[in-house]
Formats: sequence, C-alpha cells, structure tokens
Amino acid sequence: MTDPLTQIEEARKRALAELETVKTTAELEAFRIKYLGSKGEVKNLTDLIAQAAKEQKREVGQKANAAKAEVTAAYEAKKAQLVVGAPTDVSEDVTEPGKRPPIGNRHILMKVIDELSELFGRMGFSVASGPELEDEFHNFVALNIPKSHPARDPLDNYYVTVESGEGRSHGKAMGFEENATLLRTQTSTVQIRVMETSKPPIRVVIPGRVYRPDTHDETHLSMFHQLEALVVDENVTMVDLKSTIMQFVHAYFGKDTKVRFRPSFFPFTEPSAEVDVWFEDKQRWVELGGCGMVHPNVFKACNIDPEKYTGWAFGFGIERIAMRKYAIDDIRYFVENDVRFLKQF
Ligand code: DAH
Repeated sequence: MTDPLTQIEEARKRALAELETVKTTAELEAFRIKYLGSKGEVKNLTDLIAQAAKEQKREVGQKANAAKAEVTAAYEAKKAQLVVGAPTDVSEDVTEPGKRPPIGNRHILMKVIDELSELFGRMGFSVASGPELEDEFHNFVALNIPKSHPARDPLDNYYVTVESGEGRSHGKAMGFEENATLLRTQTSTVQIRVMETSKPPIRVVIPGRVYRPDTHDETHLSMFHQLEALVVDENVTMVDLKSTIMQFVHAYFGKDTKVRFRPSFFPFTEPSAEVDVWFEDKQRWVELGGCGMVHPNVFKACNIDPEKYTGWAFGFGIERIAMRKYAIDDIRYFVENDVRFLKQF
C-alpha cells in the first residue's frame, strides 16, 4: 500500500491539476463533488490517519488538512472567477452568420422616404437635396413669391440671424438687397437649386425637412417632411403631371384608390391644383399637397427659357402619406420617440 503521505500529495496534485482544466460552472460542480463532497477524495484524506503508523499519524493529519484547505481555497477562487468572469461556457463559433442586433431599427419616416424614392426611381426620377437653412431668394423670390406676400410674414417663418452666408451673395448678385436667412418652409426651394445647377431635361424628387411656426396638434408639427417633384422638358403638359401623380397614388395606396384634383393657387405654378386621395376606411378625402405647371417667372429666375421649356411640380406632405399608408392617427407619434410606436414598423 502506498505511503499515506504520498497518497495525500498525489491527491492534492491531481485535484489542483484538474481544477486548472475546469471551464464551466457545471464542470466546477462535478469537481466539487469528486474532491470536496461528502465522499470526496480530498475531503476524506483525513481517513488516512487511521491507516497510518502511530508515529506518522500527526504528520498525516496535518498534511491532509493542509491539502484540504489548499484545494478548497483554489476551488473558491475558481468559483468567484467563473461567476463574475466572461461566460466561458458559451463557446464561440466564428463561422456563425451575423445576428441582427436586438434593439433599434430605421424610423418609419425614413422607411417611407426610401419607399417613395424607390417608387419614383422606377418612374425615372433621381433624388436631389438642398440646404434646410435657406435664403429668401430660394425660399420666396425665385419662386415668384413677392415681398408683399403673406407667406413671408415673420410670424410664419423661422428667420435666423447669421453673420455671413453663401446664399446672401447670390441674392445680392441677382439684385435682391435684402436676403435674410430662414429655415426653409418648403422643399420647393430645391427646385430652384436644381434648375440653377442643371439644364433640362430634369426629372427629380426631393424628400426633405421643412419648418413652420405651427402649434403642435394631431395634424401639425413645426418640423415635418415634404416630397417635392420637378419635371422640366420640352412639350411637358398637365397630362404628364396628372398621370404621374395618379400612377404614384395607385402604386403606393392601391390601384382602386380615388384621386381628385382641385383647382388652387400657388405663386410658382400656373395652373395650380391640390391633390386629394379618398380613404375608404375614414370615408373622407385627405389632401396630399399642391401641384401645378411651373410658372414662367420661376424659369426666368433660373435662366431657363420659358418659351422653349415647360414643366410641372408637386409638393406632398410625407407624414400625411405615411399616416395614410400605415394607419397612424396622430402626427406627434413620429417625434415622440416612444419605442412602442417605433418598433411596430
Ligand atoms: N410648396 C407648397 C407648400 O409647401 C407645395 C407645392 C405646391 C409644391 C405646388 C409644388 C407645387 O411643387 O407645384 O405648400
């Protein structure tokens, strides 16, 4: 029979070596039962005292207890490490495909803008954009909105004070002495910017933010989005305008959706109309926005010959489109950042 002191030393070494290989809490528990449990190999080392020769008993007892204390301490240290440490029992498979993160998704309005851009893209439109901080030239003057027009009332616009800006010099060069800066009230501004920088044929849609000092309620926000469209070419007529809008409405809201054009007035179009869409569930017409044939004065402000070219434009509210499409009944949901709303889309 092996000498008890050698048995103690071997059991001690074996236990500590095995503890080194333990990686999970399950393995640790198996270790505990094997070495430190009621029938554990290390726990029961003190049984060797009985077998030991009389003069050895004292030393065997001391060594057995020391081994037990050492292995127990090592076990406790390992336990602490496994509980607070990284979950080492989850082995990592580097070949596994990526997982979708559990939180966050694209805002519903951005999704609608993508859908609209894609839909008009299929009809041959490209997407353009322009600055949200605009000058009066692009927001009013070039759009045939004279100084006396009520739309330029300071109470209806967010005018801002700037030290200097690129927009100013343009307005001055065009002979407009006063060219204040404001947050644009309409995406029609980008019609001008597109016509300043490119020549016909033009076929663009412009999704973007606009700002108006409105009191917030279920249909109004002081910041909202518009989808502007502009087509300029030779021989463009109102038939093109109406058929494009009808195609859009039928493609986006369903082929049986009724569309209505109501005569209206906008300074930058002549003739002008407002577009309504019939919603069966609500049994009412919902206004999408305005449209019309580009006014010759707008072409002139952009150095495009109104004798040679004609064009049409529209400006629709994107929130309205999204609300109708996805049955959202209050525009304020778009900006409240309530995840219960956001995660539905
Ligand atoms: N800019 C107008 C608004 O915000 C909407 C509009 C009307 C845009 C007629 C157009 C248009 O392009 O032709 O109320």
